[in-house]
Amino acid sequence: MVKILAIESSCDETAAAVITDGYRLLANVVATQIPVHQLYGGVVPEIASREHLNAVVPVVNRALAEAGLALSEVDAVAVTQGPGLIGSLLVGVSYAKALAFAAGKPLLAVHHLEGHMSAPFLEHPELRFPYLALVVSGSHSGVAVAEAPGRYQLLGQSRDDAAGEAFDKIARALGLPYPGGPAIQQTAGEGEAVYDFPSAWLEGTYDFSFSGLKSAVLNFLNQKKMKGEAFRTADVAASAQEAIIRVLAAKAVRAAREYDLDTIVLAGGVAANQALRERVQSLAPERRVVYPSPKFCTDNAAMIGAAALAKWQRGEFADLSLNAEANLPLYFYA
Ligand code: KG4
Ligand code: ZN
Repeated sequence: MVKILAIESSCDETAAAVITDGYRLLANVVATQIPVHQLYGGVVPEIASREHLNAVVPVVNRALAEAGLALSEVDAVAVTQGPGLIGSLLVGVSYAKALAFAAGKPLLAVHHLEGHMSAPFLEHPELRFPYLALVVSGSHSGVAVAEAPGRYQLLGQSRDDAAGEAFDKIARALGLPYPGGPAIQQTAGEGEAVYDFPSAWLEGTYDFSFSGLKSAVLNFLNQKKMKGEAFRTADVAASAQEAIIRVLAAKAVRAAREYDLDTIVLAGGVAANQALRERVQSLAPERRVVYPSPKFCTDNAAMIGAAALAKWQRGEFADLSLNAEANLPLYFYA
């Protein structure tokens, strides 16, 4: 039985998990910085690094304690190498390297998006490659064919804002708290999608663009304010959510059909969105739609451990020269 200690610190969550064969979690600890960043309406990179520095040792210790293991009893240390905020990544990478060196354990470097795409295995260990992955987070939106562990063909991605970023920016304009996705989802539940905000279809591609939608919502709000006209925030939230999810869902389903993939995996923070999950399934009733529980959609170390298990099996180890990379490309080949 292999036991892997996994560490994630790419953005505003300091997380550690211990995972063993069969994607069985022995521990899963997430220390979120959301309340700190909420004061500023979004993630402040310098503050994030400092918070990771404070949190990383206790979070890792708590994960080991939960698993009932000493560091000497784990078989490998896995860490998110990138992409993400460089100052945040460096905390996890440096600490993982120090632990691996001190305890004489092998090191496994994980791509954050491969982590997100591996999260569904935690609750659906029977999931098999290949599958279509819609990866939608605060910093990435992409459609990929997951061919095998470590092999992903990127079909398209956002040309500007990521889907989660669009949720966050629109929420901010509506006076809703950070992170915007859950706030918009909740507010949208009390409204109707009565406004037809634009979705950028970018026909013939699997690319996305959300900056036009953001501008349209900002213009709408300014116009209403200038004219002194009333509107319901819940209706704007519902309409903006609709404009985001209809294009995500349609492209994921089209790609699954074009590449003849029976399973569609939704991954990343935005995959926690209930309307997105329902839309994908209703557009593709003939396909299996798999998504992690919300706690495994947003950043966590369990998903890093899940990706690391496959790397361990492949014997793909990193050495102590490993460096954090803010723009680490996935072994994605377009
Ligand atoms: O994967 P994640 O935790 O961090 C990154 O890797 O970026 O994703 C965070 C993003 C945020 O933009 C947040 O607003 C969005 O995921 N998000 C949601 C929901 N929950 C989180 N977006 C829409 N609906 C949700 N329920
Ligand atoms: Zn993420």
